[in-house]
Amino acid sequence: MPPAPAFAQKLNQQIANEFAAHQQYVACAVYFDSEALPQLARFFYRQALEERGHAMMMVQFLLDTGADVTTPGVAEPRSFFADLVEPIALALEQEQRVSEQINALAAAAREAGDYTSEQFVQWFIKEQIEEVATMSALLRVAERSGADAADIEDFLAREHPAGEAGDPTAPRAAGSP
Ligand code: FEO
Repeated sequence: MPPAPAFAQKLNQQIANEFAAHQQYVACAVYFDSEALPQLARFFYRQALEERGHAMMMVQFLLDTGADVTTPGVAEPRSFFADLVEPIALALEQEQRVSEQINALAAAAREAGDYTSEQFVQWFIKEQIEEVATMSALLRVAERSGADAADIEDFLAREHPAGEAGDPTAPRAAGSP
């Protein structure tokens, strides 16, 4: 059974939001790379890939349920920052906004009595709790460290090392093996 039309329309919009988040994370990562901050760059490039993954999971769900999918364009991200705290604060705002959007998706599914879609959204609710918590912690470290970028780099190398495992409970993403 296809998803409720109001939910499908909102989920298509969310695909655009997730791709926009991808672009914003790439822009932040490139900024950190240009500032010779490899751990921050690596962390933000990986966040970007996660956002792309979220978009593609939503694409796969719409394909699986026989709904229309549109591939969206995205607004230009912000690429210039005054200091290294700004991109992290921007990322936290973005994650908080996405959490609200995901909750609105869950509400739309429930309102329509569309339990399949509601169940699909549950994973994203859990994911957003983690992403907001991770970015809040990083912002606290960055603010506490002031201008000392080495402290933030050490924190990321220790707490979020390269090669962290993905979540095996995640929905399948379109195009993934
Ligand atoms: Fe897919 Fe972190 O929002």
